[in-house]
Amino acid sequence: MDIGIFFAYIIIMTEYHLAASLLNWYQHHGRSLPWRVKGGAHPDPYVVLVSEFMLQQTTVKTVLDYFSPFMRRFPTVESLAAADLEEVYRYWQGLGYYTRARSLHTTAQTIVKDFGGRFPQTRENVLKLKGIGAYTASSFLALAFNLPETVIDGNVIRIICRLYHLTEPVEQILPLIREKAQALTDPQHPADYASAIMDLGAVICTPKKPQCLLCPWQNACLSRGLPELEQIPDRAKPAKKEKNGSVYLIFNTAGQILIRKRSEKGLLSGLYEFPWTDEGTLGFNDAEDSGEAVSHIFTHIRLNLKIYIVHTNASPVADGRFVDIEKLSDYPFSTLMKKVYAKSLPSLSSVSDVSV
Ligand code: ADE
Repeated sequence: MDIGIFFAYIIIMTEYHLAASLLNWYQHHGRSLPWRVKGGAHPDPYVVLVSEFMLQQTTVKTVLDYFSPFMRRFPTVESLAAADLEEVYRYWQGLGYYTRARSLHTTAQTIVKDFGGRFPQTRENVLKLKGIGAYTASSFLALAFNLPETVIDGNVIRIICRLYHLTEPVEQILPLIREKAQALTDPQHPADYASAIMDLGAVICTPKKPQCLLCPWQNACLSRGLPELEQIPDRAKPAKKEKNGSVYLIFNTAGQILIRKRSEKGLLSGLYEFPWTDEGTLGFNDAEDSGEAVSHIFTHIRLNLKIYIVHTNASPVADGRFVDIEKLSDYPFSTLMKKVYAKSLPSLSSVSDVSV
């Protein structure tokens, strides 16, 4: 046998065995999750679609609290497509990144109207759907249709870099990481393989204190036992910016509180809020400093808001409306705003329990 062919054979065999040992580990130790079946594609692509949208930027642990209530209320793509966006937001309250809820709603409508209720099964068509990028397209096609797609997220990048001891900055070696991840993917079992590598990253090959002794790839891993293991992969961390602003609880003499709706575009779109600014104050007359403040971390910034109280019967903002305090739970609020009223109106903290 030609020596080159021999080495190629060894590498393919190695990748084949790595995939097989990962799948075997997954059968015994993979997580049981409500949006997952082991042994192939999920029978309902809608279940995969909803879970993948929720899992974008949100941990499994958090999504577990929201997934089942959402599915009970919107059990089919048709029911979601027909729902009011505001109701969808209410079931999304607390998951954050509300643009995802709007995109999921639009995508459900596209599937019903443009695809006759049938889920697209090609990468080209899946990528036409709102809110679906390269990662979600791959995970959706693998998990919903068992198509040979490779998922590459932060977890997979960490696993590949450690397995092959790739220590250069991640941005410089992404094509290599992709090539290695694709070579490892089992084309016969892409759904299980995708779930398995996600679980390996979430449970075993964690950023800190990885559980190498439990890892199915421990014998092949070139970083195992090295002192710099936790520093792999090399990722430049952008510094978090900090912003300081104010939020206003504005009451009229009837004891109602002022809220306003955000525009349908941009951060926290379509949700309700108490008037606030991320820069200084809004300069309202007679605003009393409550002495309370909240702090919230968005993707790139930490936002600190001082809470002010205002008493007036005339809304100081153009789009404000006074509502009864007991009715606040009828309106979808972001986690940031829930923090505000939990902090300053503790007697209302039950409001946050009513939502979902
Ligand atoms: N992260 C993204 N998609 C996931 C899934 N289907 N299961 C677990 N974690 C995930």
